[in-house]
Amino acid sequence: MHKTTAIYPGSFDPPTNGHLDLIERGSKIFDELIVAILRNPDKDPLFNVSERVAMLEALTGQYSNVRVDTFDGLTVDYADKVGASSVLRGIRALSDYEYELQMALMNRKLRPELETVFMMPAEKYSYLSSRLVREVGKLGGSVKGLVPELVEQHLRGKLDPAFKLEEFRAQDARSESRKSRARKKA
Ligand code: PNS
Repeated sequence: MHKTTAIYPGSFDPPTNGHLDLIERGSKIFDELIVAILRNPDKDPLFNVSERVAMLEALTGQYSNVRVDTFDGLTVDYADKVGASSVLRGIRALSDYEYELQMALMNRKLRPELETVFMMPAEKYSYLSSRLVREVGKLGGSVKGLVPELVEQHLRGKLDPAFKLEEFRAQDARSESRKSRARKKA
């Protein structure tokens, strides 16, 4: 039977529980789902592309039909390159609809055979966005329950200088103890 591949394009800066909810739903209806991170040199991201790839790979490892990739240029060209017949996008609230409709129709104009499929994340994530997670994180608020624990830890490491200092001290202590063991052996 004909295999259906979909791409799920986005910035994922950082990945949220809403993204993961959608990935899980998408993995159930498509044979293959490619989470495609846009490499956008114009933006000043919080997480660089490699960090986002690493986080998403770790977070989607349990789905055998999901893989993570990056792309440049038009979404429709990337979809063509990987043989995808659908673009998966999430719609949270009515406010998303206009932008998503514009994008879907523009993509249809560019490549009519590519279908955009909208799915709704669980309603508990309907107010959640990467932008708000970044903002709350930067201002010291808790993002517990909004992003996976792995992302929470990475956010803390990025944003909290005290956390970085603690990490640095722990690394320093580890390297000191290695040196002292080496001295004892010599
Ligand atoms: O997570 P985001 O930032 O809402 O994702 C937006 C994304 C990456 C899907 C959109 O910006 C995009 O498709 N960019 C690639 C360039 C492109 O194809 N532009 C025309 C789309 S109408």
